[in-house]
Amino acid sequence: MNYIQPAHRIAGFKPYFFASLNQKINELKKKGVSIIRLDMGSPDLPPTDEIIDVLVENARDPHQHGYSAIGGTLHFRRACANYYLKRFNVELHPTREILALVGSKEGIFNLSQVILNPGDISIVPDPGYPAYRQGGKIAGADLYDMPLLPENGFLPDLNAIPDEVLEKARLLWLNYPNNPTGAVAPLSFFEKAVRFAHDHHLLIAHDAPYVDICFDGYVAPSILQIDGSRDVCVEFNSLSKTYNMAGWRVGMAVGNAEVIGYLNTYKSQMDSSQFNPILAASIHALSSDQEWIQDRNDIYLERRDIVVNGLRSCGFDVDAPDAAIYVWAQLPAGISDSTAFCDELLEETGVSLTPGIVYGKHGEGFIRVSLGTATPEVISAMDRIKSWMKKA
Ligand SMILES: Cc1ncc(COP(=O)(O)O)c(C=O)c1O
Repeated sequence: MNYIQPAHRIAGFKPYFFASLNQKINELKKKGVSIIRLDMGSPDLPPTDEIIDVLVENARDPHQHGYSAIGGTLHFRRACANYYLKRFNVELHPTREILALVGSKEGIFNLSQVILNPGDISIVPDPGYPAYRQGGKIAGADLYDMPLLPENGFLPDLNAIPDEVLEKARLLWLNYPNNPTGAVAPLSFFEKAVRFAHDHHLLIAHDAPYVDICFDGYVAPSILQIDGSRDVCVEFNSLSKTYNMAGWRVGMAVGNAEVIGYLNTYKSQMDSSQFNPILAASIHALSSDQEWIQDRNDIYLERRDIVVNGLRSCGFDVDAPDAAIYVWAQLPAGISDSTAFCDELLEETGVSLTPGIVYGKHGEGFIRVSLGTATPEVISAMDRIKSWMKKA
């Protein structure tokens, strides 16, 4: 007899998709299958040597090993403020409008806990990053799926959200450059969204971890560039992708001071901020010469083109994205089940992609290819997919 049962609010939860995928991949590796992973969005390249040097120097300082300041050190918050000023011409107050996060996923999940009551509605993009949805569920809120469709450039149609949903909605999630679609949003869309949030008394959470991975001269904006955004918006940003620091777990929430305060209070009960040397190295990342980022983006650009051309030659319908580290492709005619496709591909070729359904029902029929894997492996993966699909 098992007396210990999970709480109702997590009882229906399944492990995060990538946790189950890791298990499947480990089993295949044990059988000797050669695996190429183009699934998770974890950059393969390291941060600069200088960033690592700052981490090591600080880790050698005996005074850097205690707890750091709740919400991040003042130095770190100032570095975030300077980054926003230089990068977006947005002025932020370092302590009232900026909060350090243990990776932005943490803050994304916790935002729902501090904003939503049971019965409130959280409006989430579909397809969309799973933490928006899961955070809302844990908070006991109801979810409304906002379809992101290819015919609208994967931007949501805000006017299509029904009035009865808007009456109960308190939070609306946006994410541009977008995961999984790679779509980008013009400032005019953010203007419309900010007006919409004012009209309907909503908080917009804009999730922006890919703003610094852009191609072909595109420069992604921050929603905080819009007048009036500070009243109704918070933005999440991250060092994971911009500086190749995904494992370091450093992000930030910026914007509306009340919401930053709620998050800070909540987090002060549950985490004790980050290791000081990590914050010191993050300050260096944010404040030092940013030119290397362009060279790194050129590497992603080369991989993007290899993937887009490879998939097109196999019959996938795919646009080359202007930003982020993903190619989002519609399965060729006659194939619609993205999970079955990815499972078979993995078992028969060792190439691991992410089925679109992982991101919501409107992701079905698509696959997501991550560009965070070494270029020769991306080339081999495309070769394996091409010869496998020719045989099928
Ligand atoms: C859209 C989106 N938001 C947030 C995150 C989380 O990033 P972090 O490493 O800062 O937790 C990811 C990571 O893949 C992402 O794709």
